[in-house]
Amino acid sequence: MENHEEKPSKDIVAESLTTSEDLAAVNLADQPGGFKGLLAASNIFWLSLFAALGGFLFGYDQGVISGVLVMEAFQLKFPRLGSDGDLEGWVVSVMQLGAIIGSVVNGPLADKISRRHSMSIANLIMVVGAVLQAAAVNPAMMFIGRFIGGISLGMLSMVVPMWIGEIAPPSIRGSAVTLQQLAISFGIMVSFWLDYGMQHGTSGAIQWRVPLALRVVPAVVMIIGSFLFMPYSPRWLVNVGRETQALEVLIKLRRLPADHPLIQEEMLQIKAASAFDKATTALKFPDARTSGQKQWNQIKELFSQKHLRKRLFVACALQVLQQFTGVNAIIYYAPKMFKAIGLSGSSISLLATGVVGVVNFLATIPAVGLVDGFGRKSVLLVGSASMAGCHLIIATLYAVYEHTWAEHAAAGWAAAAFVWFFVLHFAYSIGCIAWVYPSEIFPPGVRSTAMGLSIAVNWLSNFVIGLVTPYMLTGIRYGTFYFFFAFTAILFAWVLLCLPETKGVAMEDMDRLWGGNDGKEDAERMEKIIKDLRSEGPMGVTAKGAFDEQIETVSAGGIELGKIHDA
Ligand code: BGC
Repeated sequence: MENHEEKPSKDIVAESLTTSEDLAAVNLADQPGGFKGLLAASNIFWLSLFAALGGFLFGYDQGVISGVLVMEAFQLKFPRLGSDGDLEGWVVSVMQLGAIIGSVVNGPLADKISRRHSMSIANLIMVVGAVLQAAAVNPAMMFIGRFIGGISLGMLSMVVPMWIGEIAPPSIRGSAVTLQQLAISFGIMVSFWLDYGMQHGTSGAIQWRVPLALRVVPAVVMIIGSFLFMPYSPRWLVNVGRETQALEVLIKLRRLPADHPLIQEEMLQIKAASAFDKATTALKFPDARTSGQKQWNQIKELFSQKHLRKRLFVACALQVLQQFTGVNAIIYYAPKMFKAIGLSGSSISLLATGVVGVVNFLATIPAVGLVDGFGRKSVLLVGSASMAGCHLIIATLYAVYEHTWAEHAAAGWAAAAFVWFFVLHFAYSIGCIAWVYPSEIFPPGVRSTAMGLSIAVNWLSNFVIGLVTPYMLTGIRYGTFYFFFAFTAILFAWVLLCLPETKGVAMEDMDRLWGGNDGKEDAERMEKIIKDLRSEGPMGVTAKGAFDEQIETVSAGGIELGKIHDA
C-alpha cells in the first residue's frame, strides 16, 4: 500500500475525472492483487482471516456430524439415530434447514444493526446450538441444537463474505473473500481428523460431546474480537448516513491520510453508489416509510428491475451449480462412496475420507492468489472442465467394474484418486468463487437482501444433495456420477457463454457491467451525483477541518433525501 503514496499513477483529484469509469480506472491502477496484494494490505488480510472464523465454524459443523454418527458411544446413547437411516439423514439435514432461515433473516438484520453486530448475534446463537448438542440427553435436544446451530451458520455464511467484500479494496477483494472458503475447508479437515482421533483415542460420551462442544471456542473468540477490533463496514456506514465514521474507518483500513487521492476517490465512489441507490429507490417507491416497507421494496426491486433480476439469477445459479457439482455428496458420504467404488475395509475408506479433507484444504490455498490474478471466469472454466472430466472417469470406472472390484483393485484406487482430483478442482474454483461473486455484484441498497437470498439457495441445494445422495448411491449407483458430470458440464458452458467477469471491477462500478445505469436517465443521474459530490470539495475535509462534519445533506440527482446526522 505504501507505494500508493509514492507514485499514484494518476492525479485522481484532477478536475478532469468526472465519470465513474475514470474513477474505477484510478482506483485499480498500480494496486497489486492476489497474495502480493493481501500481504501488502496486511491489516485487511488479518481482519478477513479473523472474520473467516465464521467459515471455520461452517466447515467444522458440516464435517463433524458424519464422524459423530458412526461413533459407538453416540450410537449407544441414541440407538434410534444409529439404526434408522431416515432419522440419521434428518439429523444431518436439519442443520441446512436452519441455515436457509438464517441466511434469509440475516439480510435485513445486517442492514439494520450492521454487518458486524449481526455476526456477534450469529455467534451467540451458535453457542446456544453447540451447548444443546453437546449436552443432548435425547434426540429432540440434538435436533433442536442442530437446527439452532444451522441458523447461526446461515447467518455467518452470508455476512462474513459480505463484510470482507466491503472492507477490502477491489484489487484484493476476491482473494480476501476466498479466505472464508479456506477457513471452511480447514474446518472440514479439522473435524474429519478430530472425529477420527476421538474415535480411536477415547471412549464414552466424551467421544462425541467434545467435538460437538468445541464450536463454542471460535464463536466466543469472534464475539470478543468483534467488540475489540472489527470495524464497521465503511460501505454500510455510508449507507446509514454515518459518513464521517465511514471516512475514519476507510483511513484506518487503507492506512492512508484523509486527503490522499485514493481515499478521496474511494469515498466518492462509495457515496455516489449509495446516493444513486437511494435516489433510484426514492423515485420508484416514494411512499416507503418503515423499514419493513423498505425491505419489501428491496425484494420487489430485485425481481422487477431487469439488471438486478439478472444478477440475482446469476448469483443463485452459481449456488445451485456449486452444490450440484456433488461436493457435499462426497463431504457427507465419503466413507460410503469409497466403499461403493471398491475400497474395502472401514479404516481404508475413513482414511480416504481424511485425504479428502486435506486435499480440499490444500487446494484452496492457491485460490487466494488465482481469483484476482486470473479472474473469476478462467478459474471457473478450468475448474468445471476438470471436475466434469473427473466425474466422467469415476462414473465409467464404476459402471465397468462395479461387480468385479475385488479382481480390479487398481481400478478402485484410480476411481478414489479421481474423487480426490475432483475435490482439488472444486476447492480452488467454484468452492471459492460461489462466495466471492455474490458478495461483489449487487448495489449497496439491495446487497444484503440479495446475498441472503442467494446464500439461502446454496443451503437449500446443499439440503437437497444431502438428502438425495444416499438414495442415488443405492438406486442409480454409477449414474450418480453421470448426474454430477451433467451439472459440471452445464456449469462450464454457462460460465463460458453467460458469466460476466468481475475481476478488479470496483463494487461501485458493477452497475455498468450489468446494465444498471446504462439507461440514459440513470447515467445522467449518476453523472450528476458525482458532479454534486465533487463540487462539495474534498470528502471529510471541511472549512473547520477533517471529521467535524455533523450534518450531511444527501442530495442525489436533484432529489433531496433529507438530512442525516452523523454519529
Ligand atoms: C460449500 C460447502 C462445501 C465446502 C467444501 C463450500 O464452498 O458451500 O457446501 O461443503 O465448500 O469445501
